[in-house]
Amino acid sequence: MKSKSVRRAGLRAISAGALVALVPLAAALPLHAKEKQSVDPAARAAATEAQMTDDERITLTLGLLTSPRGDQPAPEGSHPGAGFIPGIARLGVPALHETDASLGVTWISGARGNGGTQLPSGTAQGATWNVGLIEQGGRMIGSEARAKGFNVMLAGGINLMRDPRNGRTFEYLGEDPLHAGLLGGAAVRGIQSNHVISTVKHFAINPQETGRAFMNTVIEEKALRESDLLAFEIALEQGDPGAIMCAYNATNGAQSCGNKWLLTDVLRKDWDYRGFVMSDWGAVDGLDYALAGLDQQSGSPIDPQPFFGDQLKAAAQSDPAYRKRLGEMTRAILHAIYDNGLDAHPSGFGTVDAAANSEVALKVAQEGIVLLTNPAGLLPLGPDVRSIAVIGGHADAGTPVGGGSSKVLGDDGPSVSVPGVQDGNGPFAAMLNQDFNRSAPLAAIRAIAPKATIKFRDGTYPAEAALAAAQADVTIIFATQYQTEGFDVPELSLPNGQDALIAAVAKANPNTIVVLETGGPVAMPWKDDVKAVVEAWYPGARGGEAIADVLFGKVNPSGRLPLTFPASVAQLPRPALPGLGEVEPNFVGVGAPGQKLDVDYNIEGADIGYRWFAREGQAPLFAMGHGLSYTTFASEGFSVASGKDGLIARATIRNTGARSGAEVAQVYLADAHGTKLRRLAGFTKLELAPGEAREVSIPLEPRVLADWTADGWQVAAGTYRFVLAKDALADGPVAEVKLPERRIAP
Ligand code: BGC
Repeated sequence: MKSKSVRRAGLRAISAGALVALVPLAAALPLHAKEKQSVDPAARAAATEAQMTDDERITLTLGLLTSPRGDQPAPEGSHPGAGFIPGIARLGVPALHETDASLGVTWISGARGNGGTQLPSGTAQGATWNVGLIEQGGRMIGSEARAKGFNVMLAGGINLMRDPRNGRTFEYLGEDPLHAGLLGGAAVRGIQSNHVISTVKHFAINPQETGRAFMNTVIEEKALRESDLLAFEIALEQGDPGAIMCAYNATNGAQSCGNKWLLTDVLRKDWDYRGFVMSDWGAVDGLDYALAGLDQQSGSPIDPQPFFGDQLKAAAQSDPAYRKRLGEMTRAILHAIYDNGLDAHPSGFGTVDAAANSEVALKVAQEGIVLLTNPAGLLPLGPDVRSIAVIGGHADAGTPVGGGSSKVLGDDGPSVSVPGVQDGNGPFAAMLNQDFNRSAPLAAIRAIAPKATIKFRDGTYPAEAALAAAQADVTIIFATQYQTEGFDVPELSLPNGQDALIAAVAKANPNTIVVLETGGPVAMPWKDDVKAVVEAWYPGARGGEAIADVLFGKVNPSGRLPLTFPASVAQLPRPALPGLGEVEPNFVGVGAPGQKLDVDYNIEGADIGYRWFAREGQAPLFAMGHGLSYTTFASEGFSVASGKDGLIARATIRNTGARSGAEVAQVYLADAHGTKLRRLAGFTKLELAPGEAREVSIPLEPRVLADWTADGWQVAAGTYRFVLAKDALADGPVAEVKLPERRIAP
């Protein structure tokens, strides 16, 4: 029997495929879904497990590291990566070679001797709103994982942005459960099409890095089901990941990796999940996590003890509860191996088509860049620009790369590496350096505007930068915000005096364009003093080129914000970052002995990001969904109907301008049987030539309309009003539908 998550996946996989056709890739890779296995993986897992000794079972449940430790050499058969689980040769069970992460095969401080093709940050991927393209990205990084000898990718980072100061915002896709679930599931589908298991992570609510090892997320079940859990539920249906990685922090009092409610009641019982749950690295404190539902202890040398090794074996031999679990745990891991064909397609080392892969990274960057403001139409720049001052952001060297376990760099490593995030001298220093890749925006601007005189100033001295700006027709200033796993950003201001630099430059040159390369939202006190603001995020392997393409109109921007930029921290549910000043910042997020940090997420509940702003009636700086184009779009005939295929929105979208461009049609629930609210219910992206019009059909997600109740989802009878809007808080054409009461099983 196929699990519920697999059965549900088919429908939306079709709509994702349609998008690929609409937005073709320059170097399209062949579309192939995960190959269906001829023998039921559950039956195979059971048959293999029945033949195993306990020593073989615990071989699969205990994850190792790939580096030598003390006098212990690296495990035999492993190669540098994030983790390793030896195989069982006599039963044909392959070893698991694990690598991070959602943005590509990671750099691991150069330990492998080669790099990987760096996809743009999760936020940039989220900003594409292009399910098919994100699947292509997953297919690309999964193929690189395979070629570098890995068969498990610790990818699928889909935590929702509850706090824009979260240091891992850059790794994740955004703030909305439907958006993150659809895109995250697509990435997993792509990765797993290579016979490489992907995770989704970090299950289930993991909103900040401060105190991450012990902080406790306090949230009611209804709110969690309608937000973070819904993102995971949708990603599971869409991507059918072989593994799930539980988070470091606790939820409602129990650590995520030992949380029976999350790992057993929700995941196994409600969602019928068949793959395995692996812990995050260093997140296991006891053997009893196995009873809660954890299947594999990852990177066990980092934990206090290798609980899921001999201790688990001894427990299984004396306690029926552990005996039962050891069997289940082993079968869950085998299920993922067989379901993804890891045994039939053994991992090995192959070649990477670096040129084709970097085209995928370029396309994602081009589609992920968001034009935030352009009131006077200064952008795109034309061929007549005679002189340009390019300032700041190491634009002469490359584009920023996020820090931590997800860091991807090309074979040559970073162009610039700035040491020093709090414990910059510690064991994780290289992971935490503020690195830049080698895709320099300055070189790309020079290439695209060969006739212009272009000067660069690094921006160290605002007065000097202002002098260069004053002498140029146009100034392009690059502003960066570094984010890394392990540390939050304490506030939303740009660091290192960049706000003052922008203000000084904008004063000197009326034609100033700000290009932001940030992990997530930042405040913009200078917004109305500059001619354009472009959010480029961490734009990946070809980021410099993608930025130049957008600035000069070779590419018409089609990115839309995947998250809301608050005007200031005062607008947030928690204006002060929880734990700031109380928890000593450190990469692993441990506190002082006995330190506690309970954070109340019931303040916003399920109303994360734009939903919080809608509920509070506050205007953010920019709402999710916002993004401008060099052309204009109009819509006609917006309607919503309920039929045999579920709820479908339809509209005709027309390109009313003079350039080709892509529009994201966004449908939000705006009124549910008399209650005003905002919830993203469906979206699609389409490319249109000047004057072209096309009808789109957008499936709407019924759980977005529903309330979580004790017995599952309930859509109340009544009238539901939807808006086809340019962003999550904007007005637009409205359509209504009357629905009968409906229950949807969990
Ligand atoms: C991160 C995970 C990552 C793991 C292995 C942890 O620090 O939280 O996302 O997959 O390390 O590198």
